[in-house]
Amino acid sequence: MRIKILFIVIIICLFDSLIFSKNIKKEGNMEKKVLVAYFSATGTTKKVAENLSKAIRADIYEIKPKKPYSNEDLDWTNKNSRSSVEMDKKIKPEIEKNNLDLSKYEKIFLGFPIWWYVAPTIINTFLESCDFSNKTIILFATSGGSRFGKTIENLKPSLSNTAKLIEGDILNHNPSISRLKTWAEKYI
Ligand SMILES: Cc1cc2nc3c(=O)[nH]c(=O)nc-3n(C[C@H](O)[C@H](O)[C@H](O)COP(=O)(O)O)c2cc1C
Repeated sequence: MRIKILFIVIIICLFDSLIFSKNIKKEGNMEKKVLVAYFSATGTTKKVAENLSKAIRADIYEIKPKKPYSNEDLDWTNKNSRSSVEMDKKIKPEIEKNNLDLSKYEKIFLGFPIWWYVAPTIINTFLESCDFSNKTIILFATSGGSRFGKTIENLKPSLSNTAKLIEGDILNHNPSISRLKTWAEKYI
């Protein structure tokens, strides 16, 4: 009888430590290897990016233009506004210098607002500012209703061939943290 009980206790302990070590590995992966990077001109994408980073316990990084966008700059009804000109002429605005160490990350969730049916050209600047070789980049965006359109086509020339670009999703209407977690876990 004693031997039977001892045997059962050993099995339980073994099972427990197996699950425990699995969890540590999983948490380690999430904390170390995933980054949420985003650009947001008026705060909508920023909120989603912050909640996404909380949902998957990833680091977060804000892509900041060297010269911030004013309301006039963002006036899409004016074809001479800064954003209209940048998008029309494919001008890549400068970003604040970053000291991002991408070697820590395997997967990067990259968020932005949709401008003129695609990613703003500042996203090209960002992709050209770091070495994304062998990284997987999962795109997410907010918009007034448009989807990604030709975003992938426009971003590809700013990356090396070994970077993998994935069209994630348009995350409008401020999704809950639990919805973001379920969504993001498909990719990590
Ligand atoms: C210059 C400009 C162009 C835009 N173009 C589009 C568009 O083509 N389709 C769309 O659905 N929304 C468009 N929008 C709306 C934004 O995508 C939307 O408001 C987004 O959520 C803003 O995100 P942010 O607050 O993170 O900057 C545009 C907004 C701006 C300022």
